[in-house]
Amino acid sequence: MRCLTCTYSLLLALAVVGSAWGAEGKPNSGIKRSTFGKMADGKPIELFTLTNSQGMRVAIANYGGVVVSIVVPDREGKPGDVVLGFDNLEGYLAKQPYFGALIGRYGNRIGNARFKLDGVEYKLPANNSPNSLHGGTQGFDKRVWTAHEIPGPHPGLQLTYLSPDGEEGYPGNLHVKVVYSLTEDNALRIEYTATTDKDTVVNLTNHSYFNLAGEGNGDILKHEVMINADRFTPIDSTLIPTGELRKVDGTPFDFRKPTPLGTRIDADNEQIKFGKGYDHNFVLNRTGPGLSLAARVTDPVSGRVLEVFTTQPGIQLYTGNFLDGSIRGKGGKVYPRRSAFCLETQHFPDSPNKPSFPSTELKPGETYRETTDYRFSVSK
Ligand code: BGC
Repeated sequence: MRCLTCTYSLLLALAVVGSAWGAEGKPNSGIKRSTFGKMADGKPIELFTLTNSQGMRVAIANYGGVVVSIVVPDREGKPGDVVLGFDNLEGYLAKQPYFGALIGRYGNRIGNARFKLDGVEYKLPANNSPNSLHGGTQGFDKRVWTAHEIPGPHPGLQLTYLSPDGEEGYPGNLHVKVVYSLTEDNALRIEYTATTDKDTVVNLTNHSYFNLAGEGNGDILKHEVMINADRFTPIDSTLIPTGELRKVDGTPFDFRKPTPLGTRIDADNEQIKFGKGYDHNFVLNRTGPGLSLAARVTDPVSGRVLEVFTTQPGIQLYTGNFLDGSIRGKGGKVYPRRSAFCLETQHFPDSPNKPSFPSTELKPGETYRETTDYRFSVSK
């Protein structure tokens, strides 16, 4: 006699597998929605998990547009989550260093928390004394965004936010749209657009903290980094660019050939001392508009490779120098100093006060448009 329980189990197993995997044995691409938590005022926050048919998975919350997890295989095909973060909303609501968040209205620092535009001085919150960092005390990373799913072969999530005139000191109502999507070649694509009704400044980025060995899996000092930049913007002791574009030749900032992050991170060098390691903007070598390769990072142990392509003129390499093990992240894991690196594509820090830097001004009638791809693969 046929085993009824066995047949039932088999059918159940097929149904489960069938919902996650397509006819050719490949995972189905798509979007899954789940509850992530509630804001203090009761507003529900959701988590949107995008999956492509290669099995890459990225989860994004509509609080801060936070990239909560990026799951990609290692050389052996074993999946691992390569970004630092928390299991639930509470972690992100507590004091933490912008894990995975969308940063705006102005990514990185504006010197002395002020800038002049059209002859008017605008004062900003000095939340990184004496400077303003990452859009102020309540930047875009702490806002609830409106989410719309974009179904189709490249699953995506559209997030919009209206930053009102005067918010955190910045002029103009700024309509911001960010679209996250997954490509079939395992890139997380981030497309930023913004429009304003008054002259303003804009510099949007994403603040994911990567560890290609898997979050919570040691430091990133052996990760090999290539940055496509002949020059960087040296900083003063408060991490504000001096205005110089300095050649990387013969400095710890020469990453034109792949170099382990740890090799020169504590070099006897004033710039390294100011940053307590790497916390610097690189001037990307560009040959024209469009996406171009900015950086490539390889973890020799797991074999995971991250390539960053962007339309932006700069990239901030930050090596988690201010992480100190006091934060407990996913699964209660501790994140010690230099247990992650950030590659924040951007316009140069303090551009509103540096007329020689590429402009960050946005005027009514114009559209701010930037795109960045974080593409994952493995090395042999
Ligand atoms: C900055 C660092 C800062 C970190 C976290 C980076 O973009 O350059 O100085 O500590 O963000 O806020």
